[in-house]
Amino acid sequence: MIVQRFVLTPFQQNTRIVACSETRKAICIDPGEESAELVDYIANQGLDLQAITLTHGHLDHVGGTAALHESFPNAEILLHEGDADLYYGLPQQPLFMGIQPHQMAALGFDYEAPPKLSRNWVDGEVYEVGALRFKVLHCPGHTPGHVVLAEETAKRVFVGDCLFAGSIGRTDLPGGSHTQLMDSITTRIVALGDDFTVYSGHGPETTIGQERLSNPFLNGTYEIGKGKYF
Ligand SMILES: [Fe+2]
Repeated sequence: MIVQRFVLTPFQQNTRIVACSETRKAICIDPGEESAELVDYIANQGLDLQAITLTHGHLDHVGGTAALHESFPNAEILLHEGDADLYYGLPQQPLFMGIQPHQMAALGFDYEAPPKLSRNWVDGEVYEVGALRFKVLHCPGHTPGHVVLAEETAKRVFVGDCLFAGSIGRTDLPGGSHTQLMDSITTRIVALGDDFTVYSGHGPETTIGQERLSNPFLNGTYEIGKGKYF
């Protein structure tokens, strides 16, 4: 499996190209913004971009979908239906962060309407990329339609903004739920097993085992609502 990371947007989001090394079939997980480097990498490596696969609909994960799709118009675009409103509402998302319409262009947040989704993820489906087989797991909480992509043979999981090295996703944005997020992390992501490598939407790679031991949200150190470490 080929995994190439590009750190994009002012949010330092991890855009990744993931490809089957045998067939050169590839996906782009979460294109954060328009990037010539990303397009050049796909072309220079001789990869066949079959899809733009979105973990969720936040602007720093989908903002580059239109530009990438213009370069690779045959790539399908996949997102869970729970985040379709967020996705199609991309031009309005900066308002969530207090960015006013007259500030959007100057700050680089003036998005055009994104291209139409090809179809929606189905929870539990297996998505094939050459010899790679990604199980699609609906993990709501950070957003209502968040999914993670788990390659069980290679023991790698692409978790978007559910889980980070040492932390978890924020749940204060519209549609967020801490209870749902903790349920998703514990019953769907941690359940994959300690030996899975975790690729997050921001920050470094980690493993399930490392997070289970050291992440304060998973090892019992911190309980949300109590408001303190104990
Ligand atoms: Fe997010």
